[in-house]
Amino acid sequence: MTFDIRNIAVLGAGAMGNGIAQVSAQAGYQVIMQDITEEALEKGMDTIKKSLSKLASKGKIAADEVDAIIGRITTTVNLEEAAKDADLVIEAVPEVLELKIDIYKRLDEVCKPEAIFGSNTSTLPITILGAATKRPEQVCGIHFMNPVPVMPGVELIKGRLTSDEVMDEAVKYVEKIGREACLAVDYAGFIVSRLLDVVQNEACKLVMEGNEPEEIDKAMKLCANWPIGPCALMDLVGLDIVEHGLGTLENDLGPAYKAAPLLRQMVRAGELGRKTGRGFYTYNK
Ligand SMILES: NC(=O)c1ccc[n+]([C@@H]2O[C@H](COP(=O)([O-])OP(=O)(O)OC[C@H]3O[C@@H](n4cnc5c(N)ncnc54)[C@H](O)[C@@H]3O)[C@@H](O)[C@H]2O)c1
Repeated sequence: MTFDIRNIAVLGAGAMGNGIAQVSAQAGYQVIMQDITEEALEKGMDTIKKSLSKLASKGKIAADEVDAIIGRITTTVNLEEAAKDADLVIEAVPEVLELKIDIYKRLDEVCKPEAIFGSNTSTLPITILGAATKRPEQVCGIHFMNPVPVMPGVELIKGRLTSDEVMDEAVKYVEKIGREACLAVDYAGFIVSRLLDVVQNEACKLVMEGNEPEEIDKAMKLCANWPIGPCALMDLVGLDIVEHGLGTLENDLGPAYKAAPLLRQMVRAGELGRKTGRGFYTYNK
């Protein structure tokens, strides 16, 4: 089968989806962004416009390019419409396995036979998503980092049945959008989420043992050269998201990944980090 990626469908216009649509359109691809409500699509397009204006004001893109980039992005609330002409579908809907499986089944029915499916999942094994389709060799992980327009690395995950040809196409796409591909094997959490979730969970245990979040973060910044400490990072990502990721790791890889009691307790208390105004630190909402 020959692949030729020109048209990209991005499913989900949220934190990740709008960034993926933006960087794809910046690289010259024709993009259709899909979500379940017009409001979500409008919000996604607003974020893209703000991000592009910022890049133009910093001289990172020419001011007259902005309209052309925006012109390459269309939107729809209809999955079939988004998918029918796509050469590559990048799925960035919420991290709920049943939801994603349902979407892959529908995509398989409406997409061209040569369409490639890439999931932006942070932790769910790609092989499970591929198994929902009759084309598992054409399903891979294309895991962008947040914020998408800024982060230079993209993790690419080869499911058990993903073909080498499809991985080559995914690498070409990542290079065309000016990013560098990091190749990962398909076990829950891959490389990035697995290591980050483990360190963040250990940081929770360190707090339980009496360490101050400020000291943990200071130690990792000054002694390990991290740009941000693990407690501040959890507050940024959301403690519920970290707990959910650890749940996927525990399911697939065993009890070593069980969320720390403090993490579970803070999630139950609604101390989710920046988004609720309180996590390891407090914030003005
Ligand atoms: N936020 C991050 O830092 C981050 C980083 C890397 C990967 N991810 C992964 O990216 C994916 C999306 O995360 P996000 O942070 O962008 O979530 P988000 O909640 O910001 O956005 C998800 C979007 O999907 C839409 N949606 C819900 N159901 C849908 C459906 N059936 N069809 C189409 N759209 C639908 C929602 O309306 C929402 O706009 C998840 O798998 C997540 O694990 C997130």
